[in-house]
Amino acid sequence: MDRFVVHAGRPLAGEVRVSGAKNAALKQMAASLLARGRTVLRNVPEIADVAVMAEVLGAIGATVTRHEPAVLVIDVPDEIVPEAPYDLVTRMRASINVLGPLLGRCGRARVALPGGDNIGRRKLDMHFRGLEAMGASFERRHGFIEARTPGLVGARTVLDFPSVGATENILTAAVLAQGTTIIENAAREPEIVDLAAFLNRMGATIFGSGTPTITVQGVSELFPVEHEVVGDRIEAGTFLMACGIAGGEVEINGTRMEHLDLVVMKLGEMGLKVSPTSQGLWARSDGRLSAVDIATLPFPGFGTDFMPLAVTLLAVAQGTSIVTENVFDGRFGFVDELLRLGADIHTEGRHAVVRGVHRLSGAPVRALDVRAGAALVLAGLAADGETVVHDPYHVDRGYVNLAAKLASLGADVHRAST
Ligand code: EPU
Repeated sequence: MDRFVVHAGRPLAGEVRVSGAKNAALKQMAASLLARGRTVLRNVPEIADVAVMAEVLGAIGATVTRHEPAVLVIDVPDEIVPEAPYDLVTRMRASINVLGPLLGRCGRARVALPGGDNIGRRKLDMHFRGLEAMGASFERRHGFIEARTPGLVGARTVLDFPSVGATENILTAAVLAQGTTIIENAAREPEIVDLAAFLNRMGATIFGSGTPTITVQGVSELFPVEHEVVGDRIEAGTFLMACGIAGGEVEINGTRMEHLDLVVMKLGEMGLKVSPTSQGLWARSDGRLSAVDIATLPFPGFGTDFMPLAVTLLAVAQGTSIVTENVFDGRFGFVDELLRLGADIHTEGRHAVVRGVHRLSGAPVRALDVRAGAALVLAGLAADGETVVHDPYHVDRGYVNLAAKLASLGADVHRAST
């Protein structure tokens, strides 16, 4: 029965280092399948999702080993089995990211279809449409998607929404396709830019990552390389919000302020001071923050992954905020847990009205997904008495030692197991 145990305490103080980004590392692990030989990824977070992706790559035929805590070595043989099994895909949706690399490398792929999800519907239609435009065909059979192509050919795809996963699958298929692929309305997240940087280092020719138009000139072969994964902006944002909730002054290293522009702007409007440093960010909170309205959008908008953390911060801010979730249609489930802690929040469809209260009131709650779980840990920093967050495995999927890192800043948080 593992759980996080949290008490409100002193304001935060000190320095903390963020790990490599989960959503960059996972995609680069999948993309390593594109090259035979030994890929070395540095700054890979030691989290549960990375272990699952290592199992996925293992099922495909690669050997994944951790040489040092943050260094992953991936050996990809000449012959691989282009299949991602159901038990792994259901444990982690990002397994679907092997689809593009497998189609590019093997001309076929059999990937289990992921099932439901705690944060809303997560369709894959744009992944399939983009790959179909390049000459792939898909059949759904017995819970699997079976993809084939006589050879991918570059094509122009216009996404109806800048989907992170669709952009990545199309990009990782296009690098070995014949001719030029253009992805319009592409996702612009820093993790996409890092994936493109990794692929370019491997020998791909990609222009425009980080803009809405990505152009890929296919090459015939890619080569294994060493690459350092970008720092986790979501983890950095988690510590910023923790500083807003608990008060205090912190330095957050291993990230870049331009990856958090809108988060920093909104927190600034609320009264949190944030500045860039050579290593990352500095932040200070001098008292209770003020309410602000937030609407989530794809990067460079306010990221949906920050939303549960922001709602928690707003739940103890002064005034009333309206939070609109534009990316996922079921991401307010965690609000019921915040209500158990005495928050005053009303949700209606994609909107939440958050009326700030002075203090929350500690109680047992449950993590529903990785970010919502982290948000509940932060809520405990503003709650009287003891807050116990159950099901911490959700948090372990995306955070390296969240409790220990918060404790290193002086927070009264620990992980208990009995
Ligand atoms: N969508 C479609 N059709 C598609 C693809 C997406 O309708 O073909 C819709 C989805 O249903 C959703 C929206 O588009 O409503 C956004 O989906 P997107 O594809 O951008 O998200 P994702 O690739 O499934 C990644 C992250 C999420 C993060 C989102 C948005 C990974 C492994 N996951 O998901 O992170 O919230 O982008 O930035 O990279 C997390 O880390 O816990 C997490 C959920």
